[in-house]
Amino acid sequence: MSVTARTQLLLFLISLSSRVGLGRYIEDDEASDGIFSLLTLDQKREAEDFLFRRPLRCLDMLATEGSFTFVASQPQLSCAAFVIAEPSEVLSLELSDVSIDCSAGDFIKMFDGWILKGEKFPSIQDHHLALHQRYTDYCSATAPGSTCRSSQNIAMIFFRIHRPDAGFTLAVKKLHNPFPCNIMSQSPEGSFTMVMPHQRRNCSFSIIYPVEIRLTELSLGQARSNELSPPRQVWSGCSGSGDYVELLGGNGVDTSKMFPVADFCFSVSGLAQMKIGCDNSVVRLVSSGNYINRVSFQYRLLEHSELPKTRENSLDNFCTVE
Ligand SMILES: *[C@@H]1O[C@H](CO)[C@@H](O)[C@H](O)[C@H]1NC(C)=O
Repeated sequence: MSVTARTQLLLFLISLSSRVGLGRYIEDDEASDGIFSLLTLDQKREAEDFLFRRPLRCLDMLATEGSFTFVASQPQLSCAAFVIAEPSEVLSLELSDVSIDCSAGDFIKMFDGWILKGEKFPSIQDHHLALHQRYTDYCSATAPGSTCRSSQNIAMIFFRIHRPDAGFTLAVKKLHNPFPCNIMSQSPEGSFTMVMPHQRRNCSFSIIYPVEIRLTELSLGQARSNELSPPRQVWSGCSGSGDYVELLGGNGVDTSKMFPVADFCFSVSGLAQMKIGCDNSVVRLVSSGNYINRVSFQYRLLEHSELPKTRENSLDNFCTVE
């Protein structure tokens, strides 16, 4: 992803974060269902109108629940909205009031993940669904669909509409996800713990900023953590091991195309701290399914002065700052 694309995403997120207050209010309102049930029907209808509503732009970023309506003002041939929730949430997207002309070449497609510059997150390798199952196509002749449930905290919708005044409404809801696997961070700083309990599955935590990542805890299976092996293999290949954590850096979102910065296949605590001077930094947990694996980490945005001066793409470690 180019710096400008990332700056755009960041600007969108900043402009949306000011609305988080309203989002919280709506959530709290829904949570107090006890009081809600005492309201009259009219009062309930009024309360439902509190649902956050705003127009959808041709290029947009949605980080709140709500109802977003797109109306074409002119032919709009290449539009996309990126939707993101908290790490422990998944998204439900639902189309309504659709007035497009599929036979004239209009379309609305939803995708379970993000596609940025032709690259997908989660990568094809790390997603449990086949690629074609991750698309929901409103105009499909064989399997048209107007709802999409994401597998992780991101999803997107892209659309093409020729006729002015045609459009649709997109409802975004967030649902709790007890076992988050692939995650896109909304923020350039924070902390997270990824847990993979006895499943043969690989999970990536992606931060689309240059960051410093500090692994604070790593536990790869009971058996191994009791072995007092010297951590001599820490910097050599862990790929022979079925369970490991790797740090990746790169300028796109597809983890299978990113550069390995470091890998760790021993359980230790107080581990390591790495600066990754790329547009995208990833913590990837590879699990064989034999163990309960757990990795905890913290991350913060690199200062401008910490970024690499030159980027030599031919070098494997071009993202590494130190
Ligand atoms: C997890 O990743 C490793 C290394 O990239 C790969 O060998 C393995 O097949 C992957 N497992 C699954 C379930 O995709």
